[in-house]
This record gives sequence, structure tokens and C-alpha cells, in this order.
Amino acid sequence: MKILITGSGGLLGRFASTVAAARHEVLALSRADLDVTDRAAVDHAVGRFLPQAVLHCAAYTDVDGAERHSGLAMEVNAVGAEWVAKAARDAGAAMVFVSTDYVFDGERRTPYEETAPTCPRSSYGRSKLEGERRVAEACPDGWLTVRTGWVYGPSKGFVDWAKKRLVASKELPLVDDQTGSPTYALDLAEALLALVEGEHRGLFHFVNRGETTWVTLVRFLASELGVKEPQVKTISGEALGRPAPRPAYSAMSVEKFEDATGIQVRAWQDALKRYLANSR
Ligand SMILES: NC(=O)c1ccc[n+]([C@@H]2O[C@H](COP(=O)([O-])OP(=O)(O)OC[C@H]3O[C@@H](n4cnc5c(N)ncnc54)[C@H](OP(=O)(O)O)[C@@H]3O)[C@@H](O)[C@H]2O)c1
Repeated sequence: MKILITGSGGLLGRFASTVAAARHEVLALSRADLDVTDRAAVDHAVGRFLPQAVLHCAAYTDVDGAERHSGLAMEVNAVGAEWVAKAARDAGAAMVFVSTDYVFDGERRTPYEETAPTCPRSSYGRSKLEGERRVAEACPDGWLTVRTGWVYGPSKGFVDWAKKRLVASKELPLVDDQTGSPTYALDLAEALLALVEGEHRGLFHFVNRGETTWVTLVRFLASELGVKEPQVKTISGEALGRPAPRPAYSAMSVEKFEDATGIQVRAWQDALKRYLANSR
């Protein structure tokens, strides 16, 4: 297949580019190569390469920044996504949009399925939900939206931050009132490719299986790293005073993904071990 990747300099974009390039013809475009809010540039890039699939990994991902810069978040996450989806439609390509657990309000205590009602509480979540809507409308036969959450990998995300602090014996201030499903960016990239190669369309959730709190995750990480007494200081999300509200609960069900692809999703603990092994 010919696959075009936007945001290829980001955490997911880097993994998606590597995984896709192993078996497809890939055009990986970083932000410097292609600003997705520039419609003419998007049309030009997609129209020239004529991919069978576009993996749209570009996004405005500063969750707290989006509270202050809601217009910019909407411009990138909704308008930019729409331009990419329209260009994908014109090229006859599948349009893969990556969305977020932040489209949910976090009131549930059982994993969110694809059919669960959305109710974003943050500007970032609203911009991504609007992106979902626009992508489905712009590319009605080719849209594939994959919601994920708590994504980590080298040099970005919570796990990388926690690992550095654990190794340096530094204190870890952690919120103890949030539960979610951590996701290794490499597993996510492989899942996106599996969906594309299987020509699946529609809405899917993909995270690593299971759920945890940040505190339990760090204790698991510490034991894997051989750190005997992690200096964990628990704090409520509210006390942390971050501008954007986070869902208190955002674990997601991966049953639809597993049924569609026949792939059994790795548990978050196994994914974390894979990440640590790959980082050695
Ligand atoms: N990370 C998570 O925990 C998480 C959770 C749920 C969903 N997601 C979704 O997963 C996807 C990938 O996220 P990620 O973790 O890989 O984020 P990331 O590392 O921040 O990557 C996003 C990339 O998009 C680029 N970008 C920003 N504005 C752009 C524009 N106007 N045109 C082109 N590129 C632009 C960024 O470039 P700069 O770095 O130069 O700004 C960055 O390289 C996103 O859709 C995100 O919403 C992530």
C-alpha cells in the first residue's frame, strides 16, 4: 500500500512511520513538511502521492494549553483534520484519525465502549470530538477513527517522565484519583496498521488491556526497574491545579478491535515490559 503519515515527528507519528515503512511505501510528513491547517498544502501533498491510506498523527496535544488556546486546538484538531479527510476522500484513500479518551466525561466505572455517549470536559477533548465529527462527514466511506489514551513512549508521556525520576531517586508527585488504560505508542502504531491492512472502517477503541491508576502504574514500573522504595507522593488532580479537567475514569474496551482484527491486545503490564525491553 501507499501510506501517507502526517505529524510524523510526533510520538505516534514516529512509530507509525517505522512500522508502516517495514511493509508499505510510506510518505512521512512532519509538521515542518506539512502544516495540516494549510488546506492547499494538504491537497497538494495528498494529491501528488495518491495514498491508499492516510494516517493522521498530527494534532495539537497540549491538553492544558488548549484551555487558553482553544481556537488553535480547534484549528489543528478539527479544521486541519477535515482538510486531511477531504484530501483523503478525493484520493480514494482511507482516513485514519486518532482520537482520545478525553471525549468522555469520566463518570463511568466500567471500560468505555465505542457506543458510549461522549461528553468532553476539556477544550482539547472538544476539539478532538469535533475532529471526529468532521472526519466522518468529510470522508464518509473511508473514515477510521481510533480513540486511545495515556499514550507513552521514548522521550514523551508519563511513563518516560516517571522512569527518569525513579532512576534518579527523585520524588514523584502523582494524582491518585484518575484511572485509565496506558498505551504503548508502538502497540498503537501496530494496531493502526492492522486496521488499515484489514480495510476496517468506523470507530474503534485501542489501548493496552486493563486499567490502572498512575500510582499503581509507577509501583509496577519501579518493581520492573528494580527500584525498591519509589518516593511516591499522592495528590488529588484538583490540588495539582492544572487548567484542563481530566476524566476521573477513562479505561476503554478493546473488544471491538479484537473481534475485528483477531489480535489479542497486550495487557498494559506486558506492554510496559515490552517498552522497557525496547529502551534497553
Ligand atoms: N499522547 C497521548 O497520551 C494521547 C492520548 C490520546 C490520544 N492521543 C492522540 O494521538 C495522536 C498522536 O499523539 P502524540 O502523542 O503522538 O502527540 P505528539 O507527540 O504531540 O505529536 C503530534 C505531532 O503533530 C504535530 N503538529 C502539531 N500541529 C501541527 C500542524 N498544524 N500541522 C502538522 N503537524 C502538527 C506536532 O508537531 P510539534 O511537536 O512541532 O508541535 C507533533 O509532531 C494525536 O491525535 C493525539 O490527540 C494522544
